[in-house]
Amino acid sequence: MLTILEFPDPRLRTKAKPVAVFDKALQGLIDAMFATMYAAPGIGLAATQVNVHQQLLVLDVSEEKNAPLALINPKIVARDGSQVYQEGCLSVPGIFADVERAERIVVEAQDRAGKPLHVEADGLLAVCIQHEMDHLVGKLFVDYLSPLKRELVRKKLEKAHKATA
Ligand code: NI
Repeated sequence: MLTILEFPDPRLRTKAKPVAVFDKALQGLIDAMFATMYAAPGIGLAATQVNVHQQLLVLDVSEEKNAPLALINPKIVARDGSQVYQEGCLSVPGIFADVERAERIVVEAQDRAGKPLHVEADGLLAVCIQHEMDHLVGKLFVDYLSPLKRELVRKKLEKAHKATA
C-alpha cells in the first residue's frame, strides 16, 4: 500500500509533470495506486496524493468496483453544463463539501500502455475526473470553500493528526 498525503501537507501543492515513459515501473505504480484506492476505500486517486508528481490518476466509480480506469496525461478538451456534488477526498479525511463542476466533459488521455484514450463522462464520473485532475495541478476540493471554512477544515485535521500521533 502507498501512503496517502493529507491536507495541509505542502507536497499536495506540487504540479505534476507529464508521463513520458510507459515502463514496468509505471505499471507497478498504477497497480499499487488501484490497490491503495480500493483499500482506502475511495473512488479516485491521483499520483500527487501518493507523492508521485506525474500526470496519472486512477478511478472506479462503479458500484461493483469492477470498472478500473487509469488516465495518463489527461486533458479536458470540452466541458458543458454544471452540477453540484458533495465531494470528499482521501487526502482530506472525514470532510465533505458541495463543489460545483462541469456536468459533462470530454477528456483526451493515454491508457497505461500509452495508447490514446478518449473519454466522454457525465455525472459522478465527470466529477471524479475533474477532482482528480485538480490534484495534478496542486489543487484540492477545499480550495473551492470560503477561506473561513477551509481554515476550520485545517484545524479539524490538525487536531485529528495530533490525536493519532
Ligand atoms: Ni481527492
